Amino acid sequence: MTAQPQQEFTGKVVVVTGAGSGIGRAAARAFAGAGARVLGVGRRRHALDETAADRPAIAVHTADLRDPEAPRQVADAAVERWGRVDVLVNNAGATRMMPLDQTTAADVEDLFALNVTAPSLLARAALPHLRRTGGTILNVSSTYGHRPLPHAAHYAASKAAIEQLTRSWALELAADGVRVNAVAPGPTESEALAAAGLPEADVEALKREEAARIPLGRRGEPEEVAAWILRLADPAAAWLTGQVLAVDGGLALT
Ligand SMILES: NC(=O)c1ccc[n+]([C@@H]2O[C@H](COP(=O)([O-])OP(=O)(O)OC[C@H]3O[C@@H](n4cnc5c(N)ncnc54)[C@H](OP(=O)(O)O)[C@@H]3O)[C@@H](O)[C@H]2O)c1
Repeated sequence: MTAQPQQEFTGKVVVVTGAGSGIGRAAARAFAGAGARVLGVGRRRHALDETAADRPAIAVHTADLRDPEAPRQVADAAVERWGRVDVLVNNAGATRMMPLDQTTAADVEDLFALNVTAPSLLARAALPHLRRTGGTILNVSSTYGHRPLPHAAHYAASKAAIEQLTRSWALELAADGVRVNAVAPGPTESEALAAAGLPEADVEALKREEAARIPLGRRGEPEEVAAWILRLADPAAAWLTGQVLAVDGGLALT
């Protein structure tokens, strides 16, 4: 007799932002593999379609989450389709080089619109549904949410903000039975460095340098971060809230 794969998210509805690549794609596929119905959100339709290919449990929704109207439309799309939301994964995010002597109001606002405001408005839009289902919010921070990052200080600041939102919302929503946790990945294979506009040669050099600094000796794979997003969202983690879990090959210890 073959063992059935574990389906701990059967009947659950999960919203994953940034599902067209990297950690978000891995998380969307892992939730679908664990029985959930998943709404994958991002700007590029073709990238989302690739995430959902051959996975009927994944539906896609294109949106630029910097648009203040988008978060409500995302929550509505999930509820119109499936009638509930159990898990919100605030994964979409961007990194940007921003030396202080080149920092502009527009660049700070743009970065925070995606990394801080959008997760806030998504959590707000999903909240009535999460209260109903006793659901959970998973935020994606970074090693640099709790470490300094010269030349990209506003990325670090935006992730520090998401960690404080995680702890504050955890207390604010505990009485509603809504749990809020975060993962803080270390350097992980994804499109993030290319999306930040770094030349390919710089990306390769940076990857080598990062791998050398990580105690376990390598960068992470998106699936290795996604696995912990699922564990923290799992109903079996019912007594865990307000935590930021470093998934980083030991980088935070150095
Ligand atoms: N990779 C790492 O080393 C690392 C380390 C620590 C933390 N993180 C965090 O992990 C999260 C996922 O990043 P990743 O590494 O998987 O990078 P990624 O491959 O660049 O994924 C980011 C995703 O966000 C989506 N996105 C970007 N801007 C958006 C917008 N305005 N509206 C809607 N969606 C948008 C992108 O899709 P579209 O372009 O199609 O919109 C993309 O699929 C981010 O929050 C990042 O800060 C990554």
